[in-house]
Amino acid sequence: MKKFSKILSFIGIFFCFSFQAISAEKIEYLKTDWSFKGLFGKFDRAALQRGYQVYTEVCSSCHSMKYLSYRNLAEKGGPEFTEEQAKAIAASFEVVDGPNSDGEMFTRPGKLSDKFVMPYENVKAAQAANGGAYPPDMSVLAKARGGGVDYIYSLLQGYEDPPVGVNLDDGVYYNKFMYGNKIKMANQLSDGLVEYSDGTVASVEQMSKDVTTFLMWSAEPHLEARHQMGFKAIVYLIILTVLVYFSMKRIWSRIETEV
Ligand code: HEC
Repeated sequence: MKKFSKILSFIGIFFCFSFQAISAEKIEYLKTDWSFKGLFGKFDRAALQRGYQVYTEVCSSCHSMKYLSYRNLAEKGGPEFTEEQAKAIAASFEVVDGPNSDGEMFTRPGKLSDKFVMPYENVKAAQAANGGAYPPDMSVLAKARGGGVDYIYSLLQGYEDPPVGVNLDDGVYYNKFMYGNKIKMANQLSDGLVEYSDGTVASVEQMSKDVTTFLMWSAEPHLEARHQMGFKAIVYLIILTVLVYFSMKRIWSRIETEV
């Protein structure tokens, strides 16, 4: 049975490494417990719906999410709005379509198949409106930045008065979590900025957490399916290891050992 315990300890080491890889981080970001982290992690539906609300009401006037369509809001594994709700959300936006038979573009209410409407016509227009800085598209931002969700969550709460000796130009703000501490996005959140329909108190912390959860989902819409698959694969590997161990025992049992 000694060998068997060796195998078990190998499995143990494997687990330790996979957890360590997640926690390897240099900057001390603000901590919060994410429901989607870990082997069994799942998105909190209510948080995703609230996060969508924060995105639409606050962030969407500057940041696009060009890879999302309104139908994604009703898909399994996401905020799981009902189809009716998603349709109503889509219809509340004006989408440019066309050209019509006169060769002109026209606007119509959004449909489920439409992509999220963009706040600006193009990158130049976005920069012109934001003091030269481009508000990055947020579809996959949670995956594109080192620190991921912890970075975004912290950044939204990281605004401070600049320390003495640090001078900021107009339209530049001090944020302890931004690279170089200078950011061209003003503080966007203040307590009670949105009104959640589920009665959750809209503190800055809560809104940061909700919108970041929403951004995590948009960056990794299949996270839940992936976690399930990962769990199955691990169970499968453990069973396989045990079987291989016993068949090895059997094959070698005919050979006399000297010990
Ligand atoms: C008034 C326009 C505006 C609004 C509203 C806005 N942002 Fe921004 N945001 C910007 C600009 C401009 C930048 C680029 C700043 C820079 O590069 O210095 C930015 C940068 C960011 C970054 C940093 C990205 C990076 O490069 O690391 C994050 C994260 C972010 N915004 C999240 C949000 C979230 C979440 C919301 C909604 C709660 C929001 N923003 C609302 C304009 C805006």
